[in-house]
Amino acid sequence: MECQVTFVEATAMPARTVLVTGGAGYVGSHAVVQLLSQGHEVVVVDNLVNAPRGNDAASPLTECLRRVQEIAGKTLNFHQMDIMDRSQLDRVFACYSFDYVMHFAALKAVGESVEKPLLYYKNNVGGSITLLEAMKDHNVKKLIYSSSATVYGTPQKLPLTEDHPTGVNCTNPYGKSKYFVEEILKDLVTSDKEWRAVSLRYFNPVGAHESGLIGEDPQGVPSNLMPYIAQVAVGRRPRLQVFGDDYDTPDGTGVRDYIHIQDLAVGHLAAARKLLDPCFQGFRAYNLGTGSGLSVLQLVQAFEKASGRQVPYEVVGRRPGDIAYCYSSASLAKRELGWQAQKGVDEMCESVWRWQSKNPNGYRSS
Ligand code: NAD
Ligand code: WQD
Repeated sequence: MECQVTFVEATAMPARTVLVTGGAGYVGSHAVVQLLSQGHEVVVVDNLVNAPRGNDAASPLTECLRRVQEIAGKTLNFHQMDIMDRSQLDRVFACYSFDYVMHFAALKAVGESVEKPLLYYKNNVGGSITLLEAMKDHNVKKLIYSSSATVYGTPQKLPLTEDHPTGVNCTNPYGKSKYFVEEILKDLVTSDKEWRAVSLRYFNPVGAHESGLIGEDPQGVPSNLMPYIAQVAVGRRPRLQVFGDDYDTPDGTGVRDYIHIQDLAVGHLAAARKLLDPCFQGFRAYNLGTGSGLSVLQLVQAFEKASGRQVPYEVVGRRPGDIAYCYSSASLAKRELGWQAQKGVDEMCESVWRWQSKNPNGYRSS
């Protein structure tokens, strides 16, 4: 049967029951808002290893998930648990009848993964295998996986298309863990035709929900550019260090494809429609990016404009493992998912500033 590309309104999808691993984290929480807003039932499992509980330790929800409910005007189910714990997973699967799983749970600090490779492989690869085993035994064989542009390693050709080689020159255990799970998913769908998996390769997610209630809340010193800029602008850190201005780019600083978290979250709903389409089979990977790049200094300037604050910076040496350019071709997702990014850099910076200035200490009260 020939499958037509369908540009369906998000509201057209019937309500589903969705297991969201890592739903108390940055990307997952924004996706949960989308799911709840579209009327789906959401069950979040998260061990809170990288999600602060918040101010009210007695609350059954984290502060982030409480705010997710507030934004959506709906309730969710939350189980604090580790996806590596098979017996707890079994209990959750026994309680609900899931239509599919969105799998965000992972450790994501590149530098830490170099120091603690076993932890990263155990959590990200081992945790995914335990989840997949539980899904198989409970006959839930549909998965949306949080992958990353990092699986492409050093780009051989730009923009990065989904057929670019993966796994080659993946220089750190974090990136390899994302690649290995994609390979496991490919083998799984080959072994059993009932399995379906959509892997979403995020480029550089930034931004916050427009309410300013939820956003990125890194624990400790941010390793990513946007949260670092935001913490400088709000006065939590004195200045940004720009890692190198001698790359072969227009202003010498690294160029990345920043994508608004709201666009990314909507992309998950588009992926879910694909996953549930009866014509869809096997494994498919999609880039979620805007298709164009911004330099470090362009992002700093945009943030200064959005916030009306200065972002002092100093140029230091290159960060090991960094590349000059990384940006996506976003055309496959447009063609097959009917999705494309809508929000530009000004909206990205404005939303981060709204979140950061309303919540200078993130989810912890001041
Ligand atoms: P995050 O750390 O904010 O969220 C991940 C969540 O997973 C956290 O709440 C954490 O507590 C939870 N978690 C981790 N290990 C777990 C385990 N064993 N059991 C249960 N819960 C566990 O990170 P994020 O930025 O929201 O990333 C979500 C996903 O997207 C990850 O898989 C990450 O690799 C991927 N990704 C993120 C980015 C990015 O820049 N943020 C880019 C590309 C891909
Ligand atoms: C962006 C640019 C830096 C911080 C990382 C992971 C990747 C993915 C997304 C999960 C680069 C420069 C940064 C700073 C700076 N995550 N920079 N000063 O490195 O593109 O990707 O996050 O999958 O796997 O590697 O993002 O935000 O760290 O850096 O000058 O303090 O900003 O050199 O050019 P990156 P980033």
